[in-house]
Amino acid sequence: MKTHTVILAAGEGKRMLSTKAKSLQKLGGHSMLKRIYDLAKDLTDEFTAVVGHGKESVIAECYKLDKKIIVCEQQKALGTADAVKSALDSISDDSKVLVLYGDVPLIKPRTVKEVLLKTDDNLTILTTILQNPTGYGRVKKSDTGVVEAIVEEKDATSDEKNINEIFTGVLCCSKPLLEDSINRINNNNAAKEYYLTDIISIISKNGYKINTCLASNEEVMGANSKTELAVLEKMYRKMKAKELLELGVTISDPDRVDIRGNVTVGNDCSIDINVILDGNIKLGNNVSIGANTILKNVELGDNTVIEPFSHIVSSQVGNNCSIGPYARLREGSHLEDNVRIGNFVETKKTTIGSSTKANHFSYLGDAEIGSDSNIGAGSITCNYDGKNKNKTIIGNKSFVGTNSSLVAPVTIGSNAYIAAGSVITKDVPDSALGVGRSKQFNKENWSKSKD
Ligand code: UD1
Ligand code: CA
Repeated sequence: MKTHTVILAAGEGKRMLSTKAKSLQKLGGHSMLKRIYDLAKDLTDEFTAVVGHGKESVIAECYKLDKKIIVCEQQKALGTADAVKSALDSISDDSKVLVLYGDVPLIKPRTVKEVLLKTDDNLTILTTILQNPTGYGRVKKSDTGVVEAIVEEKDATSDEKNINEIFTGVLCCSKPLLEDSINRINNNNAAKEYYLTDIISIISKNGYKINTCLASNEEVMGANSKTELAVLEKMYRKMKAKELLELGVTISDPDRVDIRGNVTVGNDCSIDINVILDGNIKLGNNVSIGANTILKNVELGDNTVIEPFSHIVSSQVGNNCSIGPYARLREGSHLEDNVRIGNFVETKKTTIGSSTKANHFSYLGDAEIGSDSNIGAGSITCNYDGKNKNKTIIGNKSFVGTNSSLVAPVTIGSNAYIAAGSVITKDVPDSALGVGRSKQFNKENWSKSKD
């Protein structure tokens, strides 16, 4: 049987008090919708997203995640059963349908896998036990522990409100059974909504045994308001920091590191406070990341040190490099081994050969720089002529004197020198000294004329 996942993302999310659709609210820097898609993507053959409120932006996010996501529109937010109903036509009969709510983003893939494994031509629900179950659907069981129904908060008697086992929003059901039971649901309840949770009593009454899986509390919290979203954010941060701690990373304070993407690490890496790791991050062995640093889609080689306050995006850094403090490596920066980038140096679409240094105040954009070269303080590649971006090429073992402007397109050879303060507009051959500045002259006794 194939698995077809349906993400419910049509609700308005009134309690968020936001113009944004609820599933687009961010958790760990990415939409809840993305978080939910990511947790199921390796377990699922097909996806349907049910959209409605704020549908344009939700659809845009879906297609950003995966062009193959099927989008179904729920015309009116009549309830979770109605939302699933609007997706049924997109699902083939030989599927098991995994339903995920667009506001329950912390579930672990292995928990979802367990739910899928228990499901064949029947129904499995994911539940948890909460000390304070207020707001959630309560799972009613017979004396012998057989699941009989889920009762929503608004419809629960005071006895039912005392039940601590709640429905998390995750269920998996064979398509024919799901379709049949959804078609029997009515909206005779306190909210006048078509509750998906009503399929439980329908299926139970038809004599099917309903499987349950029990999840840990923190996985299944839903975010209905900004207050709940902030609680989830904190839990997410802790969860992700724990994953790295368990891989042997030294973290100065797990409450002050935000891991928003996928991180792979070697041995003995350390992360100081207020670090954000986003996208795909790959750290070699013995990498050290200084305080207040942001990395997104970055690969760092063994023994590389990122000093505090650095910002690195879509870049690769080799082994034994030292970056920062206050360095900015922008997209397409490729640094080989032993490179040194110092404070207030910005690079973009630039390759830097091994053991080259740019220690202070530089902009290196659209440049190819060889190995063992030195870029003096304040040197700039003038890569933009107002229309096009142009290339600067610098060879090996060359020395660019301080405060030089290299007006691209321009090539500086190997073993070449650029005199400090030059504006270089013509190529400089190998082993040459390029001087591009007016000569100094001194006016003797000039200050006297000022008296
Ligand atoms: C729901 C469950 C409750 C469970 C809780 C877990 C129902 C009736 N109740 O309650 O048992 O304990 O989740 O978090 O299912 N949505 C639509 N269309 C609609 C209504 C909702 O797409 O017409 C979407 C929402 O965007 C949201 C999800 O379904 O992503 C859940 O809806 P919500 O209103 O938040 O349900 P809860 O009251 O939290
Ligand atoms: Ca909810």
